[in-house]
Amino acid sequence: MNEIPLWASESFWKKTAIWVTAGSFLVLVVLTMDSLSKTSAGSKRVPAYSVINKKIDYQYDKDLHKFMPVIGGDEFLFGQKYSEEQALQLVDLGKKTTQAKNCMNCHTLLGNGAYYAPDLTKAWLDKGWISKEMREDMMVKFLMDPEKNARTFGSNRKMPNLKITEQEAKGIIAFLKWMSSIDTNGFPYNFKTINAEE
Ligand code: HEC
Repeated sequence: MNEIPLWASESFWKKTAIWVTAGSFLVLVVLTMDSLSKTSAGSKRVPAYSVINKKIDYQYDKDLHKFMPVIGGDEFLFGQKYSEEQALQLVDLGKKTTQAKNCMNCHTLLGNGAYYAPDLTKAWLDKGWISKEMREDMMVKFLMDPEKNARTFGSNRKMPNLKITEQEAKGIIAFLKWMSSIDTNGFPYNFKTINAEE
């Protein structure tokens, strides 16, 4: 009687399948934990929500050869200093509003979404808000009525009125300010910030 070689036996392949599946599952769990720790607020690349109390810039780092967020001293949002908890609530309102109103249908956030309208990753730092003194007010007005306050530089595209309340607009702005502080590995490249002329 011929012996069946190990590699040709059914039980060998069954065991191998079980080990490979279990091993891959373990690797997946480890990678998931690692991603979560690196993408949660308060980690090295993703600042805590209270960063909305700070001045944020985005500058070219000659050593790293890429644009990096630069977090400076106090620069309160809407003239108010937010505790970590208050900042979380405001940013959360903004994030949920962007989801509820499906901003990604036209915009990209951190590079994800559609390409009809500008990427919003660094929208807080956009030169288009003219000056830091005017920025918050302009952003609230724009978000609440983008048709009347259209900016449409270089394109004829207009953002429709999405019936955003003032509080939601403030939440979105906090969300955008926080997002602009995230180390996105140099994305977007060569973005001219509102601070550039200073
Ligand atoms: C139907 C498409 C559409 C949707 C949906 C949309 N936008 Fe826009 N948005 C635009 C267009 C087009 C522009 C550029 C026109 C302008 O600036 O007037 C724009 C511009 C902006 C800007 C200025 C960008 C910059 O870099 O200065 C911000 C901020 C913004 N949108 C936020 C939002 C938010 C937040 C939402 C969801 C609540 C949203 N948009 C949903 C089309 C859209």
